[in-house]
Amino acid sequence: MLIDGHNRMVDYLRVSVTERCNFRCQYCMPEKPFSWVPRENLLSYEDLFKFTKVAIDEGIKKVRITGGEPLLRDGLEHFVKMIADYKEDIDLALTTNGYLLSNYAQKLKDAGLKRINVSLDSLKEEVAEKIAQKDVLKKVLEGIEKAREVGLKIKVNCVPMQGINDGEILDILEFCKTKGYEIRFIEFMENQHAMIDAKGYTSEELQEIIKAKYPFTKIERTGSSPSQNYKLEDGYVFGIIEPHKDDFCATCNRVRLTASGVLIPCLYFEDAQSIKDAIQNNDIEKAVAILKDVLSKKPEKNRWNDDTTSSRAFYETGG
Ligand code: GTP
Ligand code: 5AD
Ligand code: SF4
Repeated sequence: MLIDGHNRMVDYLRVSVTERCNFRCQYCMPEKPFSWVPRENLLSYEDLFKFTKVAIDEGIKKVRITGGEPLLRDGLEHFVKMIADYKEDIDLALTTNGYLLSNYAQKLKDAGLKRINVSLDSLKEEVAEKIAQKDVLKKVLEGIEKAREVGLKIKVNCVPMQGINDGEILDILEFCKTKGYEIRFIEFMENQHAMIDAKGYTSEELQEIIKAKYPFTKIERTGSSPSQNYKLEDGYVFGIIEPHKDDFCATCNRVRLTASGVLIPCLYFEDAQSIKDAIQNNDIEKAVAILKDVLSKKPEKNRWNDDTTSSRAFYETGG
């Protein structure tokens, strides 16, 4: 079992397979062109798996594959299969922007993927294009539909931003409710890489908008999800991810591995240590020692509630 320096059990590993992305979401990406980590600096799937295996042996029960956009890296289904074959009962999920999903959904399902979380910030083509800086909506909706058809469980993430997609909160909720997807609205997390000085919505503001049409009750938190969930009168459950309250930090159970082998203890902070050399030298003891050291230094909570801006890039950490 992995326990961090604040006595929290860590059983959730998020593995980013690439920081590259085919979208340029305004809340995530810088405006100016920038250079990606060269491909040769990335860990191979075999090495990412070697570490994932170590982490599973130490107590990780849930693995989420992230990016950038993870489907940009060729052969992702092989990586999924390595993990699924190693531990059949693992909670194995993928976070994606959905653009390439229609081509991959069946392969991923066959490889052992259980569920996906997909971003959907607008149901209007021109708004989706404005946010992602690319005409994306049609392909994303096709991708989600295909994932549903092949039997992947689906959650939708939406970042409401003032003056951009704000008129659509109820429409997106209703779309997900009709389709049977769980929707989570996310408070915009201020970060130095975002293109815009966006203003998101607070959880209270989102609740007001939803309550005006759909009365709901709060579901008491259990487990370690970052999402605070609410139940509508007809039983549909939606969530709001409220990093400015940092409530979920008290039960934070996750650690992140970047595609270049850097272990990140908290989404907000720059602290990190590389496991690359240890893994490439097959020094498993060293990799475990680094993992434990990173966890012993995991911060107690993020600082978004102090009105501060994180220096971490979401496209690197995978959110
Ligand atoms: P589930 O396994 O379905 O609960 O997924 P998840 O919520 O862990 O994963 P997802 O990739 O869908 O993340 C949803 C949002 O929650 C993203 O915007 C993340 O940035 C945010 N999030 C996840 N973990 C953390 C965290 O430790 N801190 C903060 N501040 N936000 C987080
Ligand atoms: N604030 C809130 N959510 C963000 N995401 C990316 N950048 C931010 C941000 N600055 C979300 C994406 C995706 C998830 C992995 O992270 O919308 O759904
Ligand atoms: Fe790409 Fe996700 Fe960042 Fe959008 S939020 S630019 S889809 S990594």
